[in-house]
Amino acid sequence: VFQNVPQAPADVIFSLTAGYKADTHPQKINVGVGAFRTNELKPYVLPVVKKADAILFNDESLDHEYQPIAGQPSYTKAASKLILGKDSPAIGQDRVGAVQTISGTGANHTGAAFLAQHCKGSGKCYISNPTWANHRNIFEGVGFKVEQYAYWDPATKGLDYKGMLQAIQDAPTGSVFILHACAHNPTGVDPTQDQWKGIAAAMRAKSHFPFFDCAYQGFASGDLDRDAWSVRYFVEQGFELFVAQSFAKNFGLYGERAGNLTFVCKTPQDTKRVLSQLEKLQRSEISNPPAYGSRIVDIVLNDEALYAEWKDNLKYMSHRIIDMRKALYQHLVDLKTPGTWNHIVDQIGMFSFTGLKAPQVKVMIEKYHIYLTNNGRISMAGLSTSNVEYFAKAVDDVVRN
Ligand code: LMR
Repeated sequence: VFQNVPQAPADVIFSLTAGYKADTHPQKINVGVGAFRTNELKPYVLPVVKKADAILFNDESLDHEYQPIAGQPSYTKAASKLILGKDSPAIGQDRVGAVQTISGTGANHTGAAFLAQHCKGSGKCYISNPTWANHRNIFEGVGFKVEQYAYWDPATKGLDYKGMLQAIQDAPTGSVFILHACAHNPTGVDPTQDQWKGIAAAMRAKSHFPFFDCAYQGFASGDLDRDAWSVRYFVEQGFELFVAQSFAKNFGLYGERAGNLTFVCKTPQDTKRVLSQLEKLQRSEISNPPAYGSRIVDIVLNDEALYAEWKDNLKYMSHRIIDMRKALYQHLVDLKTPGTWNHIVDQIGMFSFTGLKAPQVKVMIEKYHIYLTNNGRISMAGLSTSNVEYFAKAVDDVVRN
């Protein structure tokens, strides 16, 4: 039965973590996976999450019953408000629905599977070049033909805005476009607000469907509302859309898989029918979403004091990343490493797209025991005041040789 099953390639991101763990070199560094680390390079349990944990622990009324198929309404509604804004007219008009998902991956998958069944449009899905490796996996997996739109311009180390608009224009009418709401993964380059306006106008002209992926709200500017600007602008412009939300990064809940798929429709009636189909899909795939992580998020988002504290925890994380950007940039400048390095401080969010090429990355891994993805992406949170100099010297060496 199984003899013709082909071997699948190892996952590009998680195989790096495995390689790093197996490495015994004392100066090894993991800048592969996008997971926040403290300056001591330890996982960070947010203080506000610890408080919510204690509340859960002491809540005698809690049990281990099934959750509703779409998740607890207090959780999904709070998550939708977080991305669309608490005064969002679309929410007020009953045009917004949501289902709790298995983190951002589940939100992408559930949305993709729904579109493949009910709203396939041109049958093509466009992902940015480059993008998070899982996007292609997910959309091809449900039967979309996946194409790329221009995004990263190696010459400017910034956004290829013209190329992106051209791709939107050239795509067949009614295609799905995966857009990173903020803190683009892997490049750390986001469109400006004016560019988002141009993107929205081009999308509208071709009746494309915007599918936002928002895994880093709070990590781009450190301001939750500002990081949601692109999505809110599209809603304001009358688009129907999906937004995949993950609480892995901004709550540090990587293992709990707390995510949400928020959707915006034209009418309350459409919203009801879409929700019914998403629930049917959810039932066949996971029956009901897991309770633990979403309960933590629910408690924090629905309590004013804890919400304020969460924002402070987010600031600590985003500031540490900015400090590491500055430190890395300064070391490279001091070393007079050939090339320009402004992009390290200009890019935002968890990642920096260094510009290192695959052969250079190979040397980084083999000679320096520094684990990063082939495309030159580094997770800034893997750097610390104790290893950033070693990292910069390794970059300096591979760039010169
Ligand atoms: C990453 O891009 O490193 C993270 O989003 C982890 C993942 O699931 O790939």
